[in-house]
Amino acid sequence: MRIQLDSQPYASIQADALVTYVFDGDNRLDGLLADIDRSQTGGLAALVTSGELTGKALELVLLHYPQGLEAKRLLLVGAGKREKFAVGDLRKIAGTAARYLKSRGVKKMVFLTREGERGADAAQAVTEGLLVAEFESDKYRSEKKNKAIESVSLAGFDNGQGDALNSAIERGRVIAESQNFARDLINEPSNRLTPRMLAARAEAMAKEVGLGVEILDDRKITELKMGALLAVAQGSVEPPRVIVLRYEPLTPRPGAPVLGLVGKGVTFDTGGISIKPADNMEKMKYDMGGAATMIGAMRALAFLKPSISVIAVMPATENMPGGRAQKPGDVQVAMSGKTIEVINTDAEGRMVLADGVTYAKKLGVTHIIDAATLTGAIQVALANVHVGAFGTPREYLDQFLESAKSAGEKMWPMPMDEEFQEMIKSNIADIRNTGSGKGGGASTGAWFIKEFAEETPWIHLDIAATCWVDEGRPWLAKGPTGVAIRSIVDFAMKL
Ligand code: BES
Ligand code: ZN
Ligand code: ZN
Repeated sequence: MRIQLDSQPYASIQADALVTYVFDGDNRLDGLLADIDRSQTGGLAALVTSGELTGKALELVLLHYPQGLEAKRLLLVGAGKREKFAVGDLRKIAGTAARYLKSRGVKKMVFLTREGERGADAAQAVTEGLLVAEFESDKYRSEKKNKAIESVSLAGFDNGQGDALNSAIERGRVIAESQNFARDLINEPSNRLTPRMLAARAEAMAKEVGLGVEILDDRKITELKMGALLAVAQGSVEPPRVIVLRYEPLTPRPGAPVLGLVGKGVTFDTGGISIKPADNMEKMKYDMGGAATMIGAMRALAFLKPSISVIAVMPATENMPGGRAQKPGDVQVAMSGKTIEVINTDAEGRMVLADGVTYAKKLGVTHIIDAATLTGAIQVALANVHVGAFGTPREYLDQFLESAKSAGEKMWPMPMDEEFQEMIKSNIADIRNTGSGKGGGASTGAWFIKEFAEETPWIHLDIAATCWVDEGRPWLAKGPTGVAIRSIVDFAMKL
């Protein structure tokens, strides 16, 4: 999809469809909308009267051959109340319009921005919305569902800011394409994305965009004594890998923070000997969503060039119930030297992250963010609405939540009280891999990882319920979402 600024008056741009948005309330037909209404000789006012055009969030009203416009269609998208509106809402508006119009065979679309949103933030949000909406899970379908929109003109923007707008479009493209890159990985079935294949995909991407890359194979992993990762991997015939991606700024500042991104890369989670029920087990191909998130974030950072170093560590393995698989009750020694009593082999994500976090610290990171499809419990707490965000110290987490806000991703701070730490004490080892007692599963999982992050500022994102959606949204195809990438990228750019 080509996306470019167009400084012509909107009415004279030829296209299959012109899209703009309408606010809910008495001001529905003000400003630009009043002008369009005049060229429709009051047609829009009539739609308001009939109740067809209310401006409610994401309402769609399509007019064919609108008078006074060169475009063949006019699509009005509801934007909700003006007071509640934020520039970031343009992502959903543009995405909803694109998904609606592409299913109607539209090839050339114009997105007309309104009076309040003519700057770089708006251009970036629209670009992200359009490109994220483009993604479909049809890679393995012989007949593709929809034809793609070929080009979008952005109209109504502040022409005086041409350079800033063009770089905002470029930034939006990098971020959205990185999000889609991750979504493609998350979608891959486990027979087409083993730990080795995930490593190869990450390596190829890194070489293409100029990131440093190192793949640790099973021999190296053994040499490093990554006992927690190896314990999970031993039930599978597929060997594990640790993927390391590095971004270095051109002129590194001495004493600057080094951000560590750690992603759970379980390419399939059967549960191991504590095997999962068959219902929905096929979904466990997306248990590498955390790793994909970090790979996607690194791809974006390679283009956006933050001023700090970033090192991503993705431990990748299958969790299988093979003859050599670990068993409940086994005690494992993690790379850090801590001993782990394995109560449930299905709590494998925290084990692979334990060694991922330890290794990232060994590589010199000063701050950590991990992302993982870690617990079913996070779905109980937050449904698929928010990412569960844990972290210490609290100020570090708050700083991250600010980035989530500006990236338009819903994240909710979760508790890290010491009572949860009590619940992962073991009778025979340093810690156990599940919480004793009832409830708090997302927090005990987080505490397990913190046992390895220790005093390093650390954030844990539990994306188990948000990394994949079973129902499509008007602006997003069902399946992998690529959630958290935008927030992580925003955070890395500001750290
Ligand atoms: N990969 C799962 C978590 C998960 C569940 C991700 C649903 C996506 C959708 C994780 O490895 C797991 O099985 N967690 C267990 C932990 C429990 C045994 C303490 C869980 O949440 O049930
Ligand atoms: Zn599991
Ligand atoms: Zn898992």
